[in-house]
Amino acid sequence: MKKNLKELYIDYFVSKGHKEVPSAPVVPEGDPTVLFNTAGMQPLIPYLMGEAHPYGKRLCDVQKCIRTNDLDEIGDKTHHTFFEMLGNWSLGDYFKEESIAYSFEFLTKVLEIPVERLAVTIFSGNDKIPKDEVSKEYWLSHGISEKRIAALSDNFWIPGDVGPCGSDTEIFYWRSEEEVPEVFDPEDDRWVEIWNNVFMEFYQDDKGVVTPLAQKNVDTGMGYERVAAILEGVTDNYLSSAWERPLAKLVSIANKPYEGNEQSMRIILDHIRTATFIAADNARIKPSNTNQGYILRRLIRRAIRHARNLGIDINTNWDTELANIYIEEYKGQYSELEANREVVFEVLTEEKKKFSRTLEKGLKVFEKILESGATEIDATNAFHLYDTFGFPIELTLEEASARNMKVDVEGFKAMFKAHQENSRNTSKGMFKGGLQTGSEVETKYHTATHLLNAALKLVLGSDVHQLGSNITEERMRFDFPCDHKMTDEEKQRTEEIVNNWIKEDLVVTKEVMKKEDALASGAECQFPERYPDEVTVYSIGDVSKEICGGPHVAHTSVIGTFKIVKEESSSSGVRRIKAVIKDE
Ligand code: ALA
Repeated sequence: MKKNLKELYIDYFVSKGHKEVPSAPVVPEGDPTVLFNTAGMQPLIPYLMGEAHPYGKRLCDVQKCIRTNDLDEIGDKTHHTFFEMLGNWSLGDYFKEESIAYSFEFLTKVLEIPVERLAVTIFSGNDKIPKDEVSKEYWLSHGISEKRIAALSDNFWIPGDVGPCGSDTEIFYWRSEEEVPEVFDPEDDRWVEIWNNVFMEFYQDDKGVVTPLAQKNVDTGMGYERVAAILEGVTDNYLSSAWERPLAKLVSIANKPYEGNEQSMRIILDHIRTATFIAADNARIKPSNTNQGYILRRLIRRAIRHARNLGIDINTNWDTELANIYIEEYKGQYSELEANREVVFEVLTEEKKKFSRTLEKGLKVFEKILESGATEIDATNAFHLYDTFGFPIELTLEEASARNMKVDVEGFKAMFKAHQENSRNTSKGMFKGGLQTGSEVETKYHTATHLLNAALKLVLGSDVHQLGSNITEERMRFDFPCDHKMTDEEKQRTEEIVNNWIKEDLVVTKEVMKKEDALASGAECQFPERYPDEVTVYSIGDVSKEICGGPHVAHTSVIGTFKIVKEESSSSGVRRIKAVIKDE
């Protein structure tokens, strides 16, 4: 085959009247409900809901996607955290008949896959939506035998819990040397899913209520790498041409063969590639303890651990060398990789430095526990290693076994779960400590206070800092050192700066760290002595960084409009600002 699968796919759908749309960034723009684009349809949601797309009603593309819900699966032959999804869409144009006809023709005529190696699933129906007999008829009409059509109750696709959705039909390929069985068994993993056609005609709201959409859409997705590997006749995706250069590089860095080291090598290859794409995204994600930054941190740290497993000296350039290969491989398609090459290198290098430090400190904890005569890492210590030193439980297990120690994994899991529930509640706005009541509007005022503090430094000088603050549902109050009554111009500039930052929709990130590290990193704090050894640091874009109990908004644009209503003396050398925010 001369042409690459991506070209063949786009050419085919363009020949059927589709317009190619560019891939959206991996970090969604303007959709705070998901961390990453997980499917080609994600950036198209408004159009699936009925908005007119500027390119028309038939679209196709190659979309960069990241799925990190099951990191543990990575290391096998077919799963990847980053992948490219080939997709075609009908926005209220064609429906089941054409969609199935296009898929069938593309697979059997363009890719020349024998029909004998194909099987499909369809929706078996539920109490609200009937079985998809229509799709079944079309598949039969193309020559897929009845025995190769399985009706399943979970053939219904929705991006997460809320959104446009509908029944789907999935196409499977027999990926095995063994003879193709006559009857399709979807549970047999030699049948691999290669394409999903979703018939999006419903919308499911946050209460689970399903209503018909204004238009009937088609949303399809095919995993590029999986199908490319099939066409090349390999059963391990990492042995397909897409991975040839990065794998050769890793083999030479590790000075070990792929055979016998598959799992660690796959994890390193996968994670460094995904980390490269996240770090190169123009959203400028940095490793942190929240949201995309947390995923980035986990990917890099896990790759580092597996590099150690392979005996790679982690303080060399193994990671940036690999990242560089991915940048070279993909830069023609995704220009941000080339533009942000140095950013990627810096992210990897900095995170590696941080992790090496905590790794060493964590290993010292191990030695101390060992010296104490203990033979087990109990749940509290395992959790402490995880929480404070970033030790995933696998690392604790590994290090413990090297010292002939046991680990209370079950106890750790219980603590981990409790911690997760706690942070989930925190992100839902059920806060403890800090602001106590934490209503939505008070949360906005809280973030606005940090912005005001930062803006006053620009207007009045860097000596300004918070001396006191008080927030109610109606207003905020902020006391700070200043030797004069603020002029109208100073007040106006302060307001303008705060409002500009609000409009810029700066991202608010939260990091948990040691107090001394937080203070050393320049985080501001009114009463450092009142905080425990471990503190939460909130950063707003790069304009503000403060130790604080929170809560804060996730993005500044939700704050509204900021207005100073009063500026007065509070005590000698101390001024007081009262300000309000309005929903505008
Ligand atoms: N959106 C569908 C999927 O991701 C095509 O499987």
